[in-house]
Amino acid sequence: MRSFAHLALGLLGAAAVASAADAESDVHSLKKDNFDDFIKEHDLVLAEFFAPWCGHCKALAPEYEVAATELKEKDIPLVKVDCTEEQELCKDYGVEGYPTLKIFRGTDSIKPYQGARKSGAIVSYMIKQSLPAVSPVTEDNLEEVKTMDKIVIIAYIAPDDKASNETFTTLAESLRDVYVFAGTNDAALAKAEGVKQPAIVLYKDFDEKKAVFDGKFEKDDILSWTKTASTPLVGEVGPDTYAGYMSSGIPLAYIFAETPEERKQFAEDFKPIAEKHRGAINIATIDAKAFGAHANNLNLDPEKFPAFAIQDTAKGSKFPYDQSKKIDAKEIGKFIQKVLDGKVEPSIKSEPIPEKQEGPVTVIVAHTYDDLVINNDKDVLVEFYAPWCGHCKALAPKYEELGKLYAENPDLASKVTVAKIDATANDIPEPIQGFPTIKIFPAGAKDSPIEYAGSRTVEDLAEFIKENGKYKADAYAAGAEKAQEGGDVTNAPSEETAAPVPDEPVEHDEL
Ligand SMILES: *[C@@H]1O[C@H](CO)[C@@H](O)[C@H](O)[C@H]1NC(C)=O
Repeated sequence: MRSFAHLALGLLGAAAVASAADAESDVHSLKKDNFDDFIKEHDLVLAEFFAPWCGHCKALAPEYEVAATELKEKDIPLVKVDCTEEQELCKDYGVEGYPTLKIFRGTDSIKPYQGARKSGAIVSYMIKQSLPAVSPVTEDNLEEVKTMDKIVIIAYIAPDDKASNETFTTLAESLRDVYVFAGTNDAALAKAEGVKQPAIVLYKDFDEKKAVFDGKFEKDDILSWTKTASTPLVGEVGPDTYAGYMSSGIPLAYIFAETPEERKQFAEDFKPIAEKHRGAINIATIDAKAFGAHANNLNLDPEKFPAFAIQDTAKGSKFPYDQSKKIDAKEIGKFIQKVLDGKVEPSIKSEPIPEKQEGPVTVIVAHTYDDLVINNDKDVLVEFYAPWCGHCKALAPKYEELGKLYAENPDLASKVTVAKIDATANDIPEPIQGFPTIKIFPAGAKDSPIEYAGSRTVEDLAEFIKENGKYKADAYAAGAEKAQEGGDVTNAPSEETAAPVPDEPVEHDEL
């Protein structure tokens, strides 16, 4: 369930980006003969390796342009390399998918860019890269440092307090991509801020503007406080924030609303509830016009807004709020409390259970998933498909053929199930990256399914079952004759052979 929601959101986000206006560009286009020299001439460079046909690259282009213009002032150049023309250069730098973004500090220190692919996020991420892990603070620059980013974390530590200094520095080093960290050992500054050394103050450009750490000066305590203090009371789910909410470890409550005015009003109304449950659940509005389809992932009717739902980000379970009711902060406050107390059953989307299995391929729905996939002693091959997916349609007759090999042989049928599930109409507990996804759940090892990555032919799929199933069931030892009789589909060339150039990695961490 979890990653499916990611996937759907990822595609939406990419589509929502406006197309590029290609006037004068601040992005440097580099080639093999000038790339290394350029990198050596600049302390810090962000490089994009792309292919002209790649959809995610096209979506990134206008964002990248805007970021390049803003970062030009800070002397942080953004460059790009067309890998269809510069294959050798891209290979030298280990490019395996498009787009690949890397941060260069000379040609020997290279690390992946891990921020969101939005101009604001790129600018903020690169500025953090250009700063030391802990920026020094003085009386003169304190006010400036406080507003250097949306969130700035400043430590006030006594000059001889080595332990606190080390704790803070370690934390800053591990989170320097996410927040700006700064520090001072000037006691007068601490006093002026109203804190006692050692202290940590988080400055933010929203909510109460400033939060003071009051726990024990230890890494874990500071870390969890940082996460809570940096999350807006009622934020907004969007491309820049989605991944953070998903990795927060606590449930996310979505308020879907179509207009900015409504979202603003809801944010106000829900603040007291968010305050009350701070650290236990995140509450955020979401633009129902741009991302309304996501409501479907939460088992809400995606046509009916405003709407409200809670998602348990750790388990993937979802709790849609009755859409016939009004979105009233007080009433929903009670609902939130019940969900947090475990008093609401999660909603599970499922097709009806088929009355009987008709074909050689077993049809699975959410309500039968546990029985047919997990709680049994068979090797179960599952195709996760979408009704609209062209590759799934192309695979269907071959998959039937494969199913027959096992279903029509009593010995094999007792060991192997070939099954399919419509992953758009059923909640599935298994993370999938695209359609179709085929996985085997071997008997006795259902916790570690193995994903099929070969060509989609009957023969190769049968070989995969034999190799990875517990029973090593060999369809061709027993049923080879039969397959030959029925026309030789197995040796037909696959339509799905690997692309000659690296494919785009499927995005699932952006809205
Ligand atoms: C931590 O120690 C380093 C090295 O002694 C020092 O330069 C720095 O100012 C200290 N940081 C703080 C916040 O006190």
